[in-house]
Amino acid sequence: MENHDLIKGIKELLKKRDAVLLAHNYQRDEIQEIADHTGDSLGLSRIAAESKARVIVFCGVHFMAESAAILAPDRTVLLPRIEAGCPMADMITPAGVEQMRGRYLGGTVVTYVNTTAAVKAASDICCTSGNAVSVIRSLPDDGKPVIMIPDQNLAQYVATKVARKVVWWDGYCPIHHVYTARDVLKVKKEHPNAVFAAHPECRPEVLELADHITSTSGMYTFARETDAREVIIGTEMGVLYRMRKESPEKVFIPLSENMICPNMKLTNLEDVRDALVTMEPVVTVPEDIRIRAAMALDRMLSVPRD
Ligand code: 13P
Ligand code: SF4
Repeated sequence: MENHDLIKGIKELLKKRDAVLLAHNYQRDEIQEIADHTGDSLGLSRIAAESKARVIVFCGVHFMAESAAILAPDRTVLLPRIEAGCPMADMITPAGVEQMRGRYLGGTVVTYVNTTAAVKAASDICCTSGNAVSVIRSLPDDGKPVIMIPDQNLAQYVATKVARKVVWWDGYCPIHHVYTARDVLKVKKEHPNAVFAAHPECRPEVLELADHITSTSGMYTFARETDAREVIIGTEMGVLYRMRKESPEKVFIPLSENMICPNMKLTNLEDVRDALVTMEPVVTVPEDIRIRAAMALDRMLSVPRD
């Protein structure tokens, strides 16, 4: 079937099912193109919570669809490829959270949204790459450590921005964590006039070389507003599609052409169509876990925007 017919079919199904199509900034170009909203984890969580649509089709990875199911329990949340996971989210369990609470007694557990619902339920508050610093600044300083879970790199970045003791679980994103300062210096040498924007999931040595550190959505703003004509992008390749469309006069250079999250690339147009036809796979969260996870997410969403 031609893409044109497929897209037309999807649009009709979206209307018929009273569905909204959300796509993370790392999704395939053609998925971003047909989405009602694209965004980072924080933006998409807010949209899921506020949307009035009966069905949310989430093109992203499992923890994102779970967040939508937690925040919008009266809606049906479809994740077209149910196996689209996040290896970082699998690096921590509720038992790991309890272990950290035992080691750092009285510490506040701040959990990155890249986690399962059960881990969120065991936490005090959530954060995303877009609001982690604001979330920690919003916490009353009781002299106890802030326990950041599960990303060691996001935690170390936040620790440079807040006047609090921050401790962390040693999880990481395999897509961002492999790159070192050497990789950045090589690309910078090839593009001496370029500025460098990096995602906080990159290692501290990479972030030290960055002109701007931000979430995936923050990168679009930086890309539009910077005076530089060349920008090196230190995150997953999926962000380049919209960036190049929005600022065609600029040159965007990936830190590496291998920065591709295979889970984020699983979903294709046929999967979206099939999910809308069959109304499967549905992502649900057991109610006892959902209630506790919603508290951690709602607490995050009530932190004023930057
Ligand atoms: P953002 O919240 O910045 O979109 O990041 C999500 C993610 O999975 C990054 O790897
Ligand atoms: Fe998870 Fe990394 Fe993929 Fe983001 S890019 S979904 S953190 S594996």
